[in-house]
Amino acid sequence: MAEEKSKSSSDLSHLPKHFHEDEEHLSQECKNLIATLPTEMAVMNVPIHQYNGFWFSKKHIQGILNFQNHYQSHDSDILLVTFPKAGTTWLKALTFTILNRKTYDPKPTRTPQNPHPLLTSSPHDLVPFVEYCDDLQKAIAYAGSFSSSSSPRLLQCQVPYVLLPESVKQSGCNIVYLCRNPKDLFVSSWKFMNKLLEAEGQGLVSIEDAFEKFCEGLVGYGPFWDHMLGYHKESLKSPEKVMFLRYEQLKSEPVRVVKNLAEFMGCGFSQEEEKDGNVAADILELCSFESLSNMEVNKPGNSWRNIENNAFFRRGEVGDWKNFFTFDMVQRLNVITEEKLEKHGLKF
Ligand code: A3P
Repeated sequence: MAEEKSKSSSDLSHLPKHFHEDEEHLSQECKNLIATLPTEMAVMNVPIHQYNGFWFSKKHIQGILNFQNHYQSHDSDILLVTFPKAGTTWLKALTFTILNRKTYDPKPTRTPQNPHPLLTSSPHDLVPFVEYCDDLQKAIAYAGSFSSSSSPRLLQCQVPYVLLPESVKQSGCNIVYLCRNPKDLFVSSWKFMNKLLEAEGQGLVSIEDAFEKFCEGLVGYGPFWDHMLGYHKESLKSPEKVMFLRYEQLKSEPVRVVKNLAEFMGCGFSQEEEKDGNVAADILELCSFESLSNMEVNKPGNSWRNIENNAFFRRGEVGDWKNFFTFDMVQRLNVITEEKLEKHGLKF
């Protein structure tokens, strides 16, 4: 019986690739580290390991080690950081479009001879997801090939602040952190997980099971609240280095946020662009949920790391949690969120 249990919890070959990584792909350094870490079970009985207070699958830990060992940040780099399902895809599209607006017109119909890269590439290909890159230098070079030579390198990760490579902290590299209301973020991640499972013909995870693990912090990169607090504290200490954004802000004041983003990335709108007034609107229109989700490249049949590009677009709304949460779920998440965040002046 005991043997059966241990087999079922270590043999994950029935799960989609996204949920695990074959042990043989892990470096000896990674295996040695994991052997020293506390282990718990996330949904689907996937083991996760606690490293510096955060929970990760084995492949996440390998990705973080690769990032720490092989990435040397440049002073001009811009690192986007998100918790999974906080709106990464949107932030990548927006920042790429803002930075490269001189090379690629944010209103693509004006320059059909020079198609905007978002028409043919997923935002995830245009902005490398550093801890998921098999070859980080190659991914950076590929992404850089779309940018004007004067553009800073734009990269993205989900690594908690405490685990960022020292070179990010010590260099002039700036960080944009995007967070999201935990209720919507939870629903988004539960739906995403089930979409991946469904695509592989697997059984789905119930909202109750997923919610329990989310509240306990036993999710990849969790606990969510600690992830966010790490960057929030840094943004208070060094606002010139860390910009702290919310998905809900992007929804409610998009023009202001896009202008602030451009300013923060060192490519603020010129007086002419301000006068014209359409630049921010064009950027927002190109990167809107409707526009991105309807692009051919984001329709079924195109994928990024075995995940269909269209899986990154579901509803793109604020408050969808109301369609899924029971009264008890609301109470429980409110209590945790208040306990964790209120003393830091953060509210959702
Ligand atoms: P929902 O599942 O609530 O719809 P990530 O990119 O970090 O994986 O986050 C995915 C979430 O961002 C999904 O939320 C997705 O629909 C939403 N999203 C993707 N593109 C968006 C866009 N252009 N505008 C607003 N939301 C977007």
